[in-house]
Amino acid sequence: MATNLQTSSPVFNSSHKATLAKQIEELGQWFHNIDLLGVPTAPTHFLGDYPNIKWKHLQSAFPQDLDRASVLDVGCNAGFYSIALKRRNAGRVVGLDVDDRYLNQGRFAVRTLGLDIEFQKSSVYQVDQVTGQYDWVLFLGLFYHLRYPLLALDKVVTKIKPGGRLVFQTMLRGSKNEHSTQEDYDFWHEEIFADADFPCTYFIEKSYSNDQTNWFIPNRSGAEAMLRSSGLEIIDHPESETWVCEPKAVKRDGNYILDMELDGSL
Ligand SMILES: C[S@@+](CC[C@H](N)C(=O)[O-])C[C@H]1O[C@@H](n2cnc3c(N)ncnc32)[C@H](O)[C@@H]1O
Repeated sequence: MATNLQTSSPVFNSSHKATLAKQIEELGQWFHNIDLLGVPTAPTHFLGDYPNIKWKHLQSAFPQDLDRASVLDVGCNAGFYSIALKRRNAGRVVGLDVDDRYLNQGRFAVRTLGLDIEFQKSSVYQVDQVTGQYDWVLFLGLFYHLRYPLLALDKVVTKIKPGGRLVFQTMLRGSKNEHSTQEDYDFWHEEIFADADFPCTYFIEKSYSNDQTNWFIPNRSGAEAMLRSSGLEIIDHPESETWVCEPKAVKRDGNYILDMELDGSL
């Protein structure tokens, strides 16, 4: 068992590495390439050293020292980002995912690295049942996998502490341009819908990139418009697919947009 072994330890030798590699393999195919004491979990990932290559571009969104701030990582997979933030001195870190394979990989990874991160089996749609609010809520690589993406976003927004932040990343397709939204459009004003920069989300009826769970893929202005529409203020855009947001108008008359939409009072 490789639990808490350190590479500097005289007992961590090539035979331990081989054991670790076997344990990693037994946990199924990994989506997150995590360095476990010198052994990579997904060395042949189709996107390269993923998500390390993504992290390099979006890490500036987070302080170097999180000073024990709490983190909720929704759709955490094997916990690459949870681990990265724990290593920046995060306090409580909770990772949620629906897939037992990824949760088991995450639990193995943090056990091996000796980090205290909680993994819970939970859908984003059940996020309201997860206790507490968090200083940092991660919603990375999940939006386009959902059939009810705005429902999920409106739910996740309720888990951000006042003064906390949401870091949101989605696959984008179509126009990469910003768009300035008017307050209103005339019913007969149809030309806007032929403007590639107008906020939109492409719907994938069958499959995209051999993945039948890719449902809604926004263009840039569509992603930004939906974030704003959920009451978030965009305060940073550290890389093309990632936004850092703060809750600004997530409540109306003291009620969350989510609850108002669900009870028909929005
Ligand atoms: C593309 S991966 C992104 C993983 C990670 N957040 C990242 O950015 O690298 C999508 C993850 O979302 C999880 N997922 C899919 N549907 C979910 C849902 N309804 N609730 C929570 N997680 C979900 C998948 O199991 C998978 O781990």
